[in-house]
Amino acid sequence: MTDPLDRVRAEARAAMTQAYAPYSGFKVGAALLCEDLSVVAGCNVESASYPCGVCAERAALAAAVARGQREFRAVVIVTDAIEPTPPCGMCRQALAEFSPGMSVVSRATSGREAHWILSDLLPSPFTPSSLPSQH
Ligand code: THU
Repeated sequence: MTDPLDRVRAEARAAMTQAYAPYSGFKVGAALLCEDLSVVAGCNVESASYPCGVCAERAALAAAVARGQREFRAVVIVTDAIEPTPPCGMCRQALAEFSPGMSVVSRATSGREAHWILSDLLPSPFTPSSLPSQH
């Protein structure tokens, strides 16, 4: 039986090859498995004005939301690192806005993978209901 995440892994890897990371040299691809089983990918995009750069996970998130997706089952992150790398804090927060219980999978070149649940990586996110206006 094929792993349903294989399609997501493949999309993340393809996105990684498109990453624009001339400053760090660290290419990242990310693909979201949406609630309706569609897959939306993104890559990191750096900038000569360094803080303007965006991570692969948030690039994928923006692309998915633009397609009307707001619920996610999983994100797969692919890098060329030797060990799987966890998503940065800003990406954890951005993903938690939509699906705090989603799976997070990170895959390294070696084929090694790390698996988490987002709520374990970010136990107390600031959520929409944290805002007084949302009560
Ligand atoms: N990066 C990601 O795309 N995702 C992460 O979760 C961590 C870091 C990118 C940002 C920057 O372009 C490069 O990796 C080095 O930090």
